[in-house]
Amino acid sequence: MSQTTERKAKLEGRIAQLNDVESLERLVQYAFRGGKANKSWTGEEHLVKGPRITIDGLKAILNGSDQAILLAEMVEGAERKLVGCIHLQKEGEHGHIGMLAVDPDTQSSGAGKFLMKWCEEYAKEHYQSKDIVGEVVSGRPELMEWYHRMGYNPTGETAPFNPEGVTHLVEGLHFVKISKSLTT
Ligand SMILES: CC(C)(COP(=O)(O)OP(=O)(O)OC[C@H]1O[C@@H](n2cnc3c(N)ncnc32)[C@H](O)[C@@H]1OP(=O)(O)O)[C@@H](O)C(=O)NCCC(=O)NCCS
Repeated sequence: MSQTTERKAKLEGRIAQLNDVESLERLVQYAFRGGKANKSWTGEEHLVKGPRITIDGLKAILNGSDQAILLAEMVEGAERKLVGCIHLQKEGEHGHIGMLAVDPDTQSSGAGKFLMKWCEEYAKEHYQSKDIVGEVVSGRPELMEWYHRMGYNPTGETAPFNPEGVTHLVEGLHFVKISKSLTT
C-alpha cells in the first residue's frame, strides 16, 4: 500500500510488530492528548486527561488474534518516519476500528485518509468484514464531520466512556458509535 503526497514524499503502509510499541505509544499520546507543542487540528486534550494507550496495552493488541495495528510511514529518499496508526479488530462480521492517530506534525497531508482506506481494504480481505464500526468521543464535531466525509455515519447508539486512568475535563462525555458499510 503506498501513496505519493504533494510534498513528493510517499506514504507507505506496514503492519506493526512488537518492536514498534515505544514509538507507537509516543505517537498515539502526542496525537490524542498533545502537549505544549501540539498542533493537532482535532484532538482530545480539551476533553480528557490521562493515557490513551499504554505499552502493555499495545503489546496485548499485537499478541492478540484477529487484530492488527496498521501503520503509515512517510518515506522520503532513504528516510522513513512513522506518522500514523489505526487498530483494526475482527468482531464477528464487523471490522472494529480504534486508536486512529496521525502525528500532529504530519496531519492534513492525507495520512488519516490513507489509513482509513487501507484499513477498509484490509478488513474486507483478511476478516471478510461487512462493515467498519467504531466510536468517537462526544463533543468533537469537526472529527464527526471528517468521518462523515469518509462515509461514516452515527448508528444512533452511544456507550459509556470511562477508560482506566482517564479524567473527564467536561461533563457528559460518552462514545458516539459510527459505522460504514463495506458492501454497498
Ligand atoms: C483525525 C486524524 C486521524 C486525521 O488525520 P489527518 O492526517 O490529519 O487527516 P487527512 O490529512 O487524511 O485529512 C485531512 C482532512 O481534514 C481537514 N482538516 C484539516 N484541518 C482542519 C480543521 N482545522 N478543521 C476541520 N477540518 C480540517 C482537511 O480539510 C481534510 O479534509 P478534506 O480532504 O475532506 O477536505 C488526525 O487529525 C488525528 O490523529 N487526530 C488526533 C487523534 C484523533 O482524534 N483520532 C480519531 C479518534 S476517533
